[in-house]
Amino acid sequence: MSPDSSSPTRANESDAADGRVAADDLPPPYDGPAPRDALPELFIQDAWANDDPRLWVPLAPGRWSRPLCLNVSNGYWVHLTRVVGGGLLSRHRHPAPVHGFVLKGRWRYLERDWIAEPGSYLYEPPGDIHTLVVEPDCDEMVTLFHNSGALLYCDEEGNTTGTTDVFDRVEACRRHFEAAGLGADHVTRFIR
Ligand SMILES: [Fe+2]
Repeated sequence: MSPDSSSPTRANESDAADGRVAADDLPPPYDGPAPRDALPELFIQDAWANDDPRLWVPLAPGRWSRPLCLNVSNGYWVHLTRVVGGGLLSRHRHPAPVHGFVLKGRWRYLERDWIAEPGSYLYEPPGDIHTLVVEPDCDEMVTLFHNSGALLYCDEEGNTTGTTDVFDRVEACRRHFEAAGLGADHVTRFIR
């Protein structure tokens, strides 16, 4: 988009001043050519609302993962992690970047001195090793994570003891959605 304030799509200076554009001043929706191989968008209206508990895939007692985007073509998954009543997420290493944004509650890594709270953003570089802990006095924690590659679970020496990747997440969702009555194919709406 051009930063030029004389753009014909911008009606007048007052519109620019408060950032609003009257409906009559909007251009028509784009209806021109588009890349023929582009995948359909993925839009979830109620991604933050806990409106259907069947969408939360249980990981362990008191822990769930709600898929938002299971990207098998780029090897990443975006999901909401939810922990109720405190808990520990296994020590793990990331071979690829992770982005996190806290929506509710708070948590920390045993290996860090900060505490993540609502609004906190986190970038974990490849190679980072940590153990996520939610204290028992936190009723509910919800954090959006964008995980690339895999989680490599490791022992105290850093040796890999287990792994999970986007394909494991797809299978876990498929099994859960089928058992929950949504049907195994429900997972396809999150896959790109
Ligand atoms: Fe992590």
